[in-house]
Amino acid sequence: MSAARPRVLFVYFTVTQQTLTVIEAMTDTLRTRGCDVQQARIEFTDPRYADRFSRFPFKHPYLLVAGMLLPQLRHATGQIRVPDSVREGDYDLVCIGSPTWWLNPCMPIRSFMQSDLAATVFAGKPFAAIVVCHRYWKNNLATVKALGIKKGGKFVSGIHFIAAGGAIGSMLALMSYFGTGVIKDRYLGVKIPKANLQPSYLGESRAFAHELADSLGCAAQIEGGSA
Ligand SMILES: Cc1cc2nc3c(=O)[nH]c(=O)nc-3n(C[C@H](O)[C@H](O)[C@H](O)COP(=O)(O)O)c2cc1C
Repeated sequence: MSAARPRVLFVYFTVTQQTLTVIEAMTDTLRTRGCDVQQARIEFTDPRYADRFSRFPFKHPYLLVAGMLLPQLRHATGQIRVPDSVREGDYDLVCIGSPTWWLNPCMPIRSFMQSDLAATVFAGKPFAAIVVCHRYWKNNLATVKALGIKKGGKFVSGIHFIAAGGAIGSMLALMSYFGTGVIKDRYLGVKIPKANLQPSYLGESRAFAHELADSLGCAAQIEGGSA
């Protein structure tokens, strides 16, 4: 490891804060391992969609989710704003926080991954993918990996986080949460699993961050202090 602290960039999008929750846990761990960490949250500024994603809980959760079906399956991109920290830094590792929308990376993340800016950010750099969803992570992770490699990045590793329950239960829990912003036990009279991240997310996020720190050659964490 060079004398300089390894620089890590998180580029992510979030509406309901689950992706940010994972990134915060990873950021804490990477900092204890001596990394200089920047978090860059993409803004979804596209006039066709920005308004509907600007408020949470969602007024019409089913309409909101259904309204993204065609654009997502078409792999459409849209207008985004990317923080200056993404352009300005020369990073040793780039981590992409990618919520799933209709089996794919959400439009703001795809828009970033396919941008000219991504080509400068990824060129020759190691990168990792973090997928957060209620259930369907595989295609999202594979897509982020492929797009990053296409922009010149070197894929290091990926991780995914899913909610509790089966296909129907976790979907009902998600829609309940989208409409209320509260994790409930029942929805439409039916018992539902807990929405969002499972408690194991914290340990898994930290372990993944340690794995990335090891790949950067960071010194081991010293008990009760920084590396
Ligand atoms: C428009 C839309 C489509 C979604 N489609 C899927 C999906 O196909 N599969 C899935 O597992 N989760 C899907 N989700 C759930 C999100 O992945 C989940 O809510 C995740 O926590 C969002 O990340 P965030 O909390 O950081 O915004 C969808 C969410 C939205 C808003």
